[in-house]
Amino acid sequence: MTTEITKVVVVGAGTMGSGIALVLAQAGIEVNLVDTEQKYLDSGENRIRRFLEGSVKREKMTQEKAEEIMNLINPMLDLSNAVEGIQIVIEAIVEDELTKKALFKKLDDLCDAGVIFASNTSAISITELASVTKRKGKFVGMHFFNPPTLMKLVEIIKGEQSEEIFVERIKSLCVKLGKIPIPSNEAPGFIINRLLWQFLNEAYRLLESGIAEAKHIDEAVKLGLNHPMGPFELSDYIGLDVLLQIGEYISEQLGEEYTPVNLLKLMVDEGKLGKKTGKGFYDY
Ligand SMILES: NC(=O)c1ccc[n+]([C@@H]2O[C@H](COP(=O)([O-])OP(=O)(O)OC[C@H]3O[C@@H](n4cnc5c(N)ncnc54)[C@H](O)[C@@H]3O)[C@@H](O)[C@H]2O)c1
Repeated sequence: MTTEITKVVVVGAGTMGSGIALVLAQAGIEVNLVDTEQKYLDSGENRIRRFLEGSVKREKMTQEKAEEIMNLINPMLDLSNAVEGIQIVIEAIVEDELTKKALFKKLDDLCDAGVIFASNTSAISITELASVTKRKGKFVGMHFFNPPTLMKLVEIIKGEQSEEIFVERIKSLCVKLGKIPIPSNEAPGFIINRLLWQFLNEAYRLLESGIAEAKHIDEAVKLGLNHPMGPFELSDYIGLDVLLQIGEYISEQLGEEYTPVNLLKLMVDEGKLGKKTGKGFYDY
């Protein structure tokens, strides 16, 4: 079997899935981009189109190149059609273990035995996700960062049964995409989200207990720690719902000290999810 990656299915056309599809197409790889409803596919496709139009406007790319990239991305609703002829699945749907497992079970039935499964999960155990499939050796964590077009890091997570040859194949794909793969063994939140979650949750605690205002904490962190964004700007950018799911998962696995503060839960309940809803710690 050829090891060259020419065609991939990306499942989930949201913030991450649309960005990952774009990065793949920029590297000349054909992508079937799947979501559950046309409106989600449309908004993913619009995000990709806006990025390409911006690149053409800033003369970073020719119009022909932008069209060539767009033509490599096929938005699709039917998963069984989408997996035809692919070598890799990259899953980027909601951060919910049961939903992801149901999808992987279905994909396992639909895909040829040689297809490698990669999950963009932020925190969930790769071994657990792989457990519902018959291809546990061919299952790897491939954790991109937001926005995938700009961020170089991809964490590569080995599940208990991931086979080295397939881990290496996913790493090679990252290099082909111009990314830097960093390996990690499995642990809730892997490297970055384990560190980031504690940092963000502590920032929420500072705000909740009235120690400082969000804009002042952000300013202090940028000046004092040299971070490009403060914790509240970053939270609004990532999505408070996504962060709450990450925090809940990590605290279930690692203990009480990781429990999300009430403020975050309240904001998610009120639909203040950050930039994507126009309201979060800041208004947009
Ligand atoms: N947002 C971030 O900064 C970020 C960064 C790294 C990793 N991640 C991870 O990437 C994944 C996706 O996050 P996101 O921010 O893109 O979420 P999102 O909510 O923007 O997009 C998720 C998409 O998946 C679709 N979807 C849900 N169930 C589906 C199914 N069964 N089949 C097909 N599509 C389905 C939804 O309709 C939605 O369009 C999560 O696992 C998240 O933890 C997110």
